[in-house]
Formats: sequence, structure tokens, C-alpha cells
Amino acid sequence: MSSSSSTPTVNSSARSKRARRPSVVPADGLGAWVAIPVITQYRGLRLLTPHGVFQPRSDAGMLIDAARRHIRGEVLDVCTGSGVVALSVAAAADAVTAVDSSRAAVAAVRVAALVNGVAVEVLHGDLFAAVTGRTFDVILSNPPYLPTPAGRPAPGSHAWDGGHDGRAVIDRLCRDAAGHLRPGGDLFMVQSSLADTERSLAMLRQTGLHPAVVLAHRGALGPLARARLGHLRAIGALPDPDAGEEIVVVRARRPLERLVTRSRRAPARACRGRR
Ligand SMILES: C[S@@+](CC[C@H](N)C(=O)[O-])C[C@H]1O[C@@H](n2cnc3c(N)ncnc32)[C@H](O)[C@@H]1O
Repeated sequence: MSSSSSTPTVNSSARSKRARRPSVVPADGLGAWVAIPVITQYRGLRLLTPHGVFQPRSDAGMLIDAARRHIRGEVLDVCTGSGVVALSVAAAADAVTAVDSSRAAVAAVRVAALVNGVAVEVLHGDLFAAVTGRTFDVILSNPPYLPTPAGRPAPGSHAWDGGHDGRAVIDRLCRDAAGHLRPGGDLFMVQSSLADTERSLAMLRQTGLHPAVVLAHRGALGPLARARLGHLRAIGALPDPDAGEEIVVVRARRPLERLVTRSRRAPARACRGRR
């Protein structure tokens, strides 16, 4: 993604920075302590990004910026990676839950929450499986979204490999998010145009949500996407290679059902002055 999937293509002051000094950590299997840069500083947060934990890029910043003024109540950050999004919004929420399918990410977020003095519930699981039966006021997600040909998975690709058309995780998010949103709740999801933004909007609409693109940045393809140019062309994800890709944040709002029900029963004037 250019973001998550490849490397950031979006110019942003929020670009993440590796800490200058590497930390000393035990390297699995080496039987030795080696110096590996695992601390990432991002917008004032100290995050752990050892091998296998996604280092935040500009799309994380876009997601945080788009959602910031809508954060309230109980928040779920699904596909949390380093926890950058969950930790960034925690101060404005009553409670934040972060979910990732990578055990390394879950461990990293738990430590980062302590380091940054932020309370976050961190769960290991496949998308919404870890929060079955629970609903949230706001759901945030930066899922893997880079269209990737089948083959032996590259190291760390679980963070950016979106499957053949980039939609392996996005489709499931679009299908299941509504069931975990409270009435009036919001989903904010970031993705690339390479993974068919219109399809996300259509799928979300089908589940009863009201989706719209609320933030977009067009930029050059990132290195991972450039390395998959042939595949992107073959699946029609790149009609105009010179146009690069657009990273978008989709906001999908669940209507206030009680309000809709009341307005159906009551005469129109009873609802005047209300949204
Ligand atoms: C692009 S990274 C985003 C990380 C972080 N939210 C950010 O913005 O930098 C995607 C994350 O989704 C996680 N992931 C991939 N598939 C998942 C799934 N089915 N359920 C939960 N997490 C998943 C990966 O482990 C990875 O940490």
C-alpha cells in the first residue's frame, strides 16, 4: 500500500520516524542480544515495531486525522499493528479496544500502552472474532490492502498483503462492521484506490451504513506496489499508472434507528429541528 501495504506515498508531516538509537533486544534463535531498531516515534507516541509489527506510515495519520473529532464512547481499533491509532485516540474515548491477528503486534501494543501511560484493552484475534457480541461507538481500521499475487508470503506481509484484489480483509470489514456499531456509530477505514474504493462504499451501503470518502490524498505508488506493477495492471487496479494511487479514509455512519423509527410513526413536524 502505499501506506500500509507498500510504503507511504502520501506527503505528510505525520511521517513516522525511527528512533535514532536502536534498542537492544534478544533475537529469537540467535542466542544473543543484538541491536535492532524497534522503537518508532510517531506524533509523540513511543511505539514498539520489532520485526513483524507494522511501522506506521502516513495512512495511519490520515485515519487519525479523519476520525479525531468523532472519537467518543467505546472505540475499537481493528488491525491495530503497533497500536498507533488506538493509542492516539485513547484520550478522547471512554475506552479503547485494539485487536490484531499478530501475537507480536498484541504484545507490542500492550507494552506501548504502558510506556505511553494509556489504558487500552488489547486482544488477539481475527477481525471481529475477539469482540463477538460487542458493539462500539467508533470503529477504526487500517487493514492490509495491497493487491498481491498468490505465492509464498513475504516476511511481514500479513500487515499489507490484501490478497489477489487487495480486498481479502476489506471485504470482511465492510460486511461485518455494521453488526458491531451502535446506532449513530461510525466506522473509519483507510484504504487505497488500488483496492477499489467504490466497492467498499457499495458494500457498506448494502449493510445499511451511510458511507462517504472523507479524506483523500493522491500520490506516487510506494515501493511494494511498484514491485507488483504487473499484477496491478493485470487485475485492472491501475488504469493510469501515471496517476499513482489515492489513499482514502472512508467514514460509514450507522443511522440512529430510534430516530428513524419515530419519524416513521410520528407526523413530520414532530421531527422538525432534529437531524
Ligand atoms: C497495515 S497494518 C496497520 C497497522 C496500524 N493500524 C497502522 O495504521 O499502522 C495492518 C494490521 O492488520 C493486521 N491484520 C491483518 N489481518 C488481520 C485480521 N484478519 N484480523 C486482525 N488483524 C489483522 C496485521 O497484523 C497488521 O498489524
